Amino acid sequence: MSAPQTSIHPDPATLAHAAAERVATLARAAIAEHGSFHWALAGGNTPRALYTALADGPPPWDWGRTHIYFGDERCVPPDDPQSNYRMARESLLDRVPIPPQQIHPILADAAYVRESARAYAHTLAAHLPRSPGGAPQFDLVLLGLGPDGHVASLFPGTCVLHQDHLAVAAVYVDRLHAWRISISLALINQARHVLLLVAGAEKAAMVAEVLGTAPGTARLPVQRLQPQGGLEWFLDRAAAAQLPPQEAR
Ligand code: 6PG
Repeated sequence: MSAPQTSIHPDPATLAHAAAERVATLARAAIAEHGSFHWALAGGNTPRALYTALADGPPPWDWGRTHIYFGDERCVPPDDPQSNYRMARESLLDRVPIPPQQIHPILADAAYVRESARAYAHTLAAHLPRSPGGAPQFDLVLLGLGPDGHVASLFPGTCVLHQDHLAVAAVYVDRLHAWRISISLALINQARHVLLLVAGAEKAAMVAEVLGTAPGTARLPVQRLQPQGGLEWFLDRAAAAQLPPQEAR
């Protein structure tokens, strides 16, 4: 796999706008190429500014041809403050003209985690286009990065990292004492594009560890990202602060 493309932006606001432009470019290309855009959103806090930037301006692409999915979800009700769906709905989905039936949240029920994962795998199989090899394929997977190197809910040391036969899995995260539902590494690596959006000084050590080590090192979940169409890192200057000077341009 070619080395990931990395772009560094002065602050979280300019990072969000640069990432929004990149998402819009990928969306328009997907719609031009196969008539639709299938995007798996990231959860957490970092993407909120990106979603808001996309909702604030005029629609940068045809939302009527867009399907929205989620890379992972916490096992909480959809209106819970911890819900990734709620964050995306408030910052983006309630503010753009996407047909409601084209929004595919993960129904993550803490009492039925494996059933929730299976149900979402069926949803993906029903709506996602197929790769040339026949696998469900996102046009874009947006990911954040945890300080421990997790992406989506693929946390270091969890079984899901070895469940490549699954598209979606239930993940028990010891340090959170909580279940999550997450798309698998195998499914992420089938994607046409993966965009990692990373901001803040608390991510700088992990960014330096991952981008500073030889490609092919696969100790951490983030180091096992090898998407079909390429991996792009969008960083703000604080997250890039510990990169060697030649990379922190
Ligand atoms: C989640 C995300 C998770 C997140 C990272 C970074 O559900 O929390 O999927 O993988 O992207 O933990 O989170 P922040 O953007 O809040 O730093």
